[in-house]
Amino acid sequence: MTTAQALPTTALGEIRVGAQGYGAMGISEFYGDSDLAESRATLERALELGVTLFDTADVYGAGHNEEFLRDFVRAHRENVVLATKFGIVRKAEDPAYRGTDNSPEYIRAAVEASLRRLGIDVIDLYYMHRKQPGVPVEDTVGVLAELVAQGKVRQIGLSEVTGAELRAAYAVHPIAAVQSEWSLFSRDVENTVVPAAAELGVTFVPYSPLGRGFLTGAAPVGDLPEGDIRRTMPRFTGDNADRNTALLAPLRAIAEARGHTPAQIALAWVHARSAVHGLSVVPIPGTRSRTRVAENIAAATVELTAEELAALEPIGAQVAGTRYADMNFTAVARE
Ligand SMILES: NC(=O)c1ccc[n+]([C@@H]2O[C@H](COP(=O)([O-])OP(=O)(O)OC[C@H]3O[C@@H](n4cnc5c(N)ncnc54)[C@H](OP(=O)(O)O)[C@@H]3O)[C@@H](O)[C@H]2O)c1
Repeated sequence: MTTAQALPTTALGEIRVGAQGYGAMGISEFYGDSDLAESRATLERALELGVTLFDTADVYGAGHNEEFLRDFVRAHRENVVLATKFGIVRKAEDPAYRGTDNSPEYIRAAVEASLRRLGIDVIDLYYMHRKQPGVPVEDTVGVLAELVAQGKVRQIGLSEVTGAELRAAYAVHPIAAVQSEWSLFSRDVENTVVPAAAELGVTFVPYSPLGRGFLTGAAPVGDLPEGDIRRTMPRFTGDNADRNTALLAPLRAIAEARGHTPAQIALAWVHARSAVHGLSVVPIPGTRSRTRVAENIAAATVELTAEELAALEPIGAQVAGTRYADMNFTAVARE
């Protein structure tokens, strides 16, 4: 396994951030129980190793994730670029329910609630987490621009938008970042939103860059514990799980030959998208382990050869199963 080297920096809108960020979602829910002391230590380790962009959302753990980050963010306010999101709504009585709300009233209440939970007075990057059907993205960005003018938000981001939506949004106010799923297993963003982001100079923040753990070769695929969200995800279950596991062969072979882990090669592939598509790329892998966060950060300086990239290229088109069981919640459904 590669040991950590200095993490380079890259542009995120008007500021610079470590070229790899940290996704905090798994600390609060979705991937099994967390050791909160180790999770907190993992945040500290990430910062020590050069990560500055820390990603959360109001919906992760229904507020728990933002509250958990509070002490860490306040202790390191000058060095942390805090990103959070609004727009996905849940129902306490139905844990599986997911809805969207992009109304001005909702956004204005959500930003206050996130600021309060995080214990800060400005959010560095505020994302629309999901677009609400029927609400033009221009209207949503108009409300976000007011929050920027009021000093509550520094920069605006959008998650799971199409290329056309990004262009329409950008015409209203500069967009610092698009956050959507992008990995060896999830390449649909390359259709419209990556080209639009490259053209507009918008930073791309790939979420689930390890395919929710699948690409590490270590996730409990097909044998997921009760309550793990991946039990609902077509790629992790049934025949698809076996077919997709077989696709990891070239990843494992490159990892072994280079003395890295499969996770590091999967992340190096995401970092390589920057040069391929001509845009700033800041993946945000999530882990609750100090060891694994160091492993993941070290991947940012692993350069893959043209031959290695070519060997990995066929994987994406062969993946069995969609990213979510219900793809209506994604940009793909609107492309
Ligand atoms: N905008 C959106 O709609 C959206 C959707 C999903 C996620 N996100 C954001 O993106 C972030 C990352 O995505 P993600 O957490 O879904 O998926 P991910 O980063 O692709 O994978 C996370 C999973 O991989 C495991 N893992 C991480 N590094 C590892 C390593 N080196 N070796 C072995 N296992 C490793 C983690 O387990 P351990 O924790 O046990 O290490 C966890 O189960 C989230 O935290 C969240 O901030 C955004």
